[in-house]
Amino acid sequence: MREIVIAGNWKMNTLPAEGVILARAVADVTAAMTQVLVVICPPATHLKDVVEAVRGTYIGVGGQNVHWEKSGAYTGELSADMLLMIGAKWVIIGHSERRKYFGETDETVNKRAKRALSAGLRPIVCIGETLEERQAGKTFEVLMRQVKIGLDGLVLKGRGGLVIAYEPVWAIGTGVNATPEQAQEAHYFIRGLLKVSYGDEIADQTVIQYGGSVTDANAVELMACPDVDGALVGGASLKADVFGRIVKAGVK
Ligand code: 13P
Repeated sequence: MREIVIAGNWKMNTLPAEGVILARAVADVTAAMTQVLVVICPPATHLKDVVEAVRGTYIGVGGQNVHWEKSGAYTGELSADMLLMIGAKWVIIGHSERRKYFGETDETVNKRAKRALSAGLRPIVCIGETLEERQAGKTFEVLMRQVKIGLDGLVLKGRGGLVIAYEPVWAIGTGVNATPEQAQEAHYFIRGLLKVSYGDEIADQTVIQYGGSVTDANAVELMACPDVDGALVGGASLKADVFGRIVKAGVK
């Protein structure tokens, strides 16, 4: 069976003390749900506090970005070693907000993911089409390009390795989630791309999360899709009880 990974992307939300309280509450509500890998990705300022807050629990902690160089003159960036040294094990890469507001491209996504993997961080690489692209019938073309360039030359190992998050941009923060049919169609397509590049076994074991307006109201039907292996949750990950119910939906 594939891993199920439910991750909370807190984005630029919570102050340090709030983050610690939220992290502890998430650990409490998800304590019995050990079949699911639960990950929380707080802002960098309190990553370390959150790692401490969930020490001894099953919760994994991740950064929201990582640079491709080991160190150097890259103002505002974080290195893989910085994340690892404070106990982060995961990192989100190529989120659509990074692509839209901060000039992230498939090429920089590729470099960041390469670095994360070689350093021993588990990357969650985000892909997904915009509304215009979907309406123009270009969804599959876009996903193909994002996977081809974004994952170019990366070593995928399936279980325990790189995670892909399919996040249609039109569903992020809009309250409009992809229907289970739309999600399954995209996930099946993405897994097919992985099969061509990496073979059946690795493709079958690679986690593909869905993201975009996941809530406790739609998580069950989304998680029921055969190729949906968890979720990357934004707004709904900021409330421990709601996030807990989403994690519960991941217990297949
Ligand atoms: P929302 O769940 O708030 O739509 O955000 C999704 C997302 O961007 C997760 O990375």
